[in-house]
Amino acid sequence: MAGPSALVLFGVTGDLARKKLLPAVYDLANRGLLPPGFGLVGFARRDWAAEHFAEIVADSVRQHARTEFRDDVWKQLIEGIRFVPGELGDNESFERLKRTLSDLDESQGTGGNHAFYLSVPPAAFDVAVAQLRRHGLADQPTGSWRRVVIEKPFGHDLASARQLERKLARAFEPSSIFRIDHYLGKETVQNLLAFRFANTMFEPIWNRNYIDHVQITMAEDIGIEGRAGYYDGIGAARDVIQNHLLQLLALTAMEEPTSFGADNLSGEKRKVLSAARVCGDLDLHTARGQYGAGWAGGREVAGYLEEAGIPADSRTDTFAAIRVDIDNRRWAGVPFYLRTGKRLPRRVTEVALNLRPAPHLPFAGTDVRALGTNALVLRIQPDEGITLRFGAKVPATPMELRDVNMEFGYDSSFAESSPEAYERLLLDVLLGSEPLFPQPEEVELSWEILDPVLDHWAGLDSAPDHYLSGTWGPQSATELLARDGFAWRRP
Ligand code: BG6
Repeated sequence: MAGPSALVLFGVTGDLARKKLLPAVYDLANRGLLPPGFGLVGFARRDWAAEHFAEIVADSVRQHARTEFRDDVWKQLIEGIRFVPGELGDNESFERLKRTLSDLDESQGTGGNHAFYLSVPPAAFDVAVAQLRRHGLADQPTGSWRRVVIEKPFGHDLASARQLERKLARAFEPSSIFRIDHYLGKETVQNLLAFRFANTMFEPIWNRNYIDHVQITMAEDIGIEGRAGYYDGIGAARDVIQNHLLQLLALTAMEEPTSFGADNLSGEKRKVLSAARVCGDLDLHTARGQYGAGWAGGREVAGYLEEAGIPADSRTDTFAAIRVDIDNRRWAGVPFYLRTGKRLPRRVTEVALNLRPAPHLPFAGTDVRALGTNALVLRIQPDEGITLRFGAKVPATPMELRDVNMEFGYDSSFAESSPEAYERLLLDVLLGSEPLFPQPEEVELSWEILDPVLDHWAGLDSAPDHYLSGTWGPQSATELLARDGFAWRRP
C-alpha cells in the first residue's frame, strides 16, 4: 500500500489519462492500495470547476476501470480530487498548483509527497520540468519526496534522448525520475523473469545450442485512432520497437540478475542491449511499411494517408521489422526478429523461441511432412499464457507425426485476474520502487540500436512499402525472413 501522497496529472484531458491513468487510480483505491491521505490533482487548459473534473474522472472510471464501481471507494477518493486550470508556460498556474498541493497536504494529509505525471506531448516536457523546478515543486523538503513520471517517446533519437535526460537531471534526483514503459508493468512480461529464473526446465535450452531464432511480434489491428498528431513523424519503430520490443528482447536474452533490484536488473539488461545490433546490409535486415485501405474487424477502413491529419505525402512507417543479432556467447548466430504494425489481422504480442530441428529424423519423409520445429511461445497478450509446441504421433497411423501444443493459460490456472500495467506502475511510483522502469542507459542503448536503421530509412528515396489493412505487413517483411530460411509465425 502506498503511503500518504498526491499524484498530479498533467495532460489529464488526454486519451491516456481518460482510458488508463484515472481508471488505474480508482482500481488501486478499490484494491485498498491507496492510503486515506491520497490526493489526485488534474492540471489542464480547461476552465473546469473541481466538481466538473470529478465528474469527468467518474465517467472515465465507470467506462474503463477494471474493477466494479463502489460508492464507498469513490466517496473516499473524491475527497482528495482537485483541479487546477492552467497553461504549462504560465507562472500563475504553477503558483495555483503549489497552493493546491499545500492545501491537500493540510486537509488530506498527503504529507508533502508529490508525484508529477507528465502525460503531455514530448515537446512540452521541457517547459513542464522547468516550471516545476522554477516554482520549487521539484525540491524535496526533508522527510518527504518529489517524483516525476514521463511517458515515452524518450527523445526522437540518441542525441535528443540525452538532452532530455540532462534537463530532467537539472530538476530531479536520478532516483526520482520514473520513465514509463507500460509493457514492463504487464503481468506476462514480469512473468518472463519468473519463467526463466524460477524453473530448471528451460534454462538448459535457452541458448544458441538449442534455439534457432527468436520472433518477437507486437501486432495491432487498430490504426492510429485519431492520434495523427502524435504518430506521424514518429512511426512504428520509434513508437514501440525502441521501447516495448527492445525491452522484451532484453528480458528474453539477458543473463540471470543477482537480484531483481533496479540496479542488478538494469545492469543485465544493459549488458545484453550493448551486445545487440542490427548489422550488415540494412536493406536486407530491416523492413518498413505503411498501411493502405483494406479491412479491419469486418469493415472497410481507410489507408494511413487518408486518415485525418496525415499529410498526403507522409513517409511514416506503420509497420517495422528488424533483425537484431546479439554478439555474446549465449546468442551468437541466433537472429532475433522484431516486428510490429498497425492494421494487421489481429492484436497479439508474443515472444516465440523457435528451436533447432532434430539433427536426425528416423521416420519416412511422408510421415513427417506436417511436422514443424519445436517452439516455446510466451503469449504476452491478449490470450495470456505459454505454449509449447512439439511433434506427436497421429493416432491410428503407423507413425505419422504432427505438431501439437501444450498450453498454460492464465485464465485456467489462476483465479486472480491480472491488474492493468498502469495499476502496477502507478503504485510503484508512489512506493518509489524502481525495477519496472527503464533506466536512462537502457533508453540510450535502445536508441543506439535503432538510430542506424532510422537514419538509413530517412536517407532512402522511396516511401515505406505498401500493405493492405488486414494483412500481415509488406512483402519486404516476408522476404526479410525468407532470405534466412524462415517464415513469420501466423499467431
Ligand atoms: C503504446 C503505443 O505505447 O502502446 C501505441 O504508443 C500502442 O501506439 C500501444 O497502440 C499498445 O499498447 P497495448 O498495451 O495495448 O499493447
